[in-house]
Amino acid sequence: MARMGSRVSDRIAAIAPSATLAVDAKAKALKAAGEPVIGFGAGEPDFPTPDHIVEAAVAACRDPKNHRYTPAGGLPELKEAVAVKTARDSGYDVDAAQVLITNGGKHAVANAFATLVDLGDEVILPAPYWTTYPEPIRRAGGIVVEIATDESTGFRVTIDQLEAARTPKTKVLVFVSPSNPTGAVYPRDEIEAIGRWAVEHGIWVVTDEIYEHLTYAGHEHHSMPVLVPELAATCLVINGVAKTYAMTGWRVGWMIGPTDIVKAATNLQSHETSNVANVSQRAALAAVSGGLDDVARFRESFDRRRMNMYRSLSAIPGVTVLEPEGAFYAFPNFQAILQRPVRGRHLTTTLELADFILEEAKVAIVPGEAFGAPGYARLSFALGDDDLGEGIARIGDLLAE
Ligand SMILES: Cc1ncc(COP(=O)(O)O)c(C=O)c1O
Repeated sequence: MARMGSRVSDRIAAIAPSATLAVDAKAKALKAAGEPVIGFGAGEPDFPTPDHIVEAAVAACRDPKNHRYTPAGGLPELKEAVAVKTARDSGYDVDAAQVLITNGGKHAVANAFATLVDLGDEVILPAPYWTTYPEPIRRAGGIVVEIATDESTGFRVTIDQLEAARTPKTKVLVFVSPSNPTGAVYPRDEIEAIGRWAVEHGIWVVTDEIYEHLTYAGHEHHSMPVLVPELAATCLVINGVAKTYAMTGWRVGWMIGPTDIVKAATNLQSHETSNVANVSQRAALAAVSGGLDDVARFRESFDRRRMNMYRSLSAIPGVTVLEPEGAFYAFPNFQAILQRPVRGRHLTTTLELADFILEEAKVAIVPGEAFGAPGYARLSFALGDDDLGEGIARIGDLLAE
């Protein structure tokens, strides 16, 4: 007879359902029913992938060599091109053996924690954080040590906070700049200080640079292992083509790190997924080998929308918001709204507020609970100017009642 027990393994049953899912599913259902829903939820550029990249993929489809298995860790020419692109864009000198090509940046995140974290290891995760981060840490047996940040430090973690969170079990610090969901960009001196702190205490850093090219108003991206070269031996860089080249659907990312870690993560990937789809890898090769003209064009649009969103959100009574410095998200504070009734309803959490805004104004936003930051919400400004203006106006009208 079969062993009795739970049908789903404990490890998988413990994965929290995404707090974004309920709002997202409802938004889609409303849209399908013909409601004029405006969505601020998307974490992706609204532009099509540039033509020269698509053309490279079309040519790759027609070449039978791409119809076969290739090395699990990525096409050698793409790994080489990623190394060259990394030196070009952030000044970090690495070689192809330090690169693992993954199924999107998300897969690089999962591989990084699977490879670094043992049972009981602590991983420091500054909040608000990208919703995916806690799960692969816990799945690897790690303990997530959250550090809350707020507007008083521009949503940036301080050395004092890191020091207070550090224990003998601390193995890894997660560092994301520009940040999803806050849009914060750490200045050079703070990145350097955090990198030095990590080196001093033998703590690994997983640094996520996926928004490296999306910074505004004089804010600049700096790569931690470039500012602190000693960190290179204990640092993994996460990156990918999704946000820079409007390629979220193509699923190509990468992890850069010391060769022993990259080799171990490649072994893992060889059993889990094998190579990333070759057509996508060829498209990514065209992307990273090309120039940065397209992303300059995207950035210009994002910048204009960023300021529109910032100004119109700031004008809503009871809503406060910092000017986004990077990525394509604003992260307004709705705590004052939760203190008073709106249209006769007393909403006590941003989960409820997001649901209410969706029902009443037909506007989808992502509640801060998804990012470890109740009381806030994330609004993407990667959507058209007209929808952006209309969507914020609807929220403003509803909350002004
Ligand atoms: C901070 C951060 N890292 C990594 C990713 C992963 O992107 P992808 O898996 O599409 O490459 C995202 C996507 O939203 C992100 O916001």
